[in-house]
Amino acid sequence: LAKTLRLIANDGPDAFYKGRIADLLVKEMKRGGGLITKKDLALYQAVVRKPIHGTFRGFDVYGPPPPSSGGICLIEMLNILENFDLKKQGRLSARTMHLMIEAMRRAYCDRARHLGDADFVKIPKHLTTKEYAKKLAKSIDLNRATPSEKLAPDISIKKEGESTTHFSIIDKNGLAVSNTYTLEQSYGSRVVVRGAGFLLNNEMFDFNWNPGVTNQKGTIGTKPNRIQPGKRMLSSQTPTIVAKDGKVLLITGSPGGRTIINTVLCVILNVMEHGMSIEDAVQAPRLHHSWFPDRAYFEKAQAYRKLMTSLKKLGHRIRSRRQGDAHSIYVDPKTGAYHGASDSRIIGKASGY
Ligand code: DON
Repeated sequence: LAKTLRLIANDGPDAFYKGRIADLLVKEMKRGGGLITKKDLALYQAVVRKPIHGTFRGFDVYGPPPPSSGGICLIEMLNILENFDLKKQGRLSARTMHLMIEAMRRAYCDRARHLGDADFVKIPKHLTTKEYAKKLAKSIDLNRATPSEKLAPDISIKKEGESTTHFSIIDKNGLAVSNTYTLEQSYGSRVVVRGAGFLLNNEMFDFNWNPGVTNQKGTIGTKPNRIQPGKRMLSSQTPTIVAKDGKVLLITGSPGGRTIINTVLCVILNVMEHGMSIEDAVQAPRLHHSWFPDRAYFEKAQAYRKLMTSLKKLGHRIRSRRQGDAHSIYVDPKTGAYHGASDSRIIGKASGY
């Protein structure tokens, strides 16, 4: 780096964009399959832009203009917050933090809605005005968080799972399919097969990582699922069909890695053991324990304090987190009616054709 800086100091910008450093950079591109050429570098122009200016309580604030969103968002938030006496509320009060969150939420929504390189998109002028900020400040409910989705009916918010998805299907003849499919992690290996339109998974992650390393965090290094040529990795996918006398009763499954099996267990117990409707069975809070970490998880634990205390007295350690997305179908054995239950945790819907 010292050499690079010396070259720039001695030869000026051309050292970087056309000279020795450009050569090194392009060589590196070639090594890694990158795209930048010497011509790209030679044509590059730095653009000097006018800073974004705003005020906060009479002070001038200058920030960077697009293509950074920093200046506009910062001024927008300061303008909103200027409408409130935060000092009086105290820095770490719920009111101050609520107002800050609401200002952030609104400015970042505008960031998504409007901001990009000003050479390509028209950036609206109103974002940094006091009038606009006043309007946004008025839209803040002092007693309630605004759901982010409510701020942007104009932007479609996709909730599609990035890694694993489950759906349950049944046709008019009672032929059922319980389908879970997985890329393992978000976007799998992040490699798209060019021209074929699909991603390669990184399912190898489902093998035990380190031979012999089983730990309290839940890393498993036992022998059965160690990587070996030709061997398939251990999955937790649990697409399930429950039937009676050859007739389908319940179709279920879920994403969620190791929690999947327990999600399916909960849905089945809720229906088969506790007699719940499929809708209630799918929505009900779920329980998970996977040996290690030696900790149980119960969704909405905060709402079941007494129950949690009783379990803790029994020696269980409990935490709370969202679990699964189990779109399921129940077939009423008396009427033969199909009941589709969409899990509200991530996204999905029940439909009939
Ligand atoms: O087959 C498995 O068990 C994993 N590949 C599933 C990963 C998963 O569910 C992640 N998504 N939420």
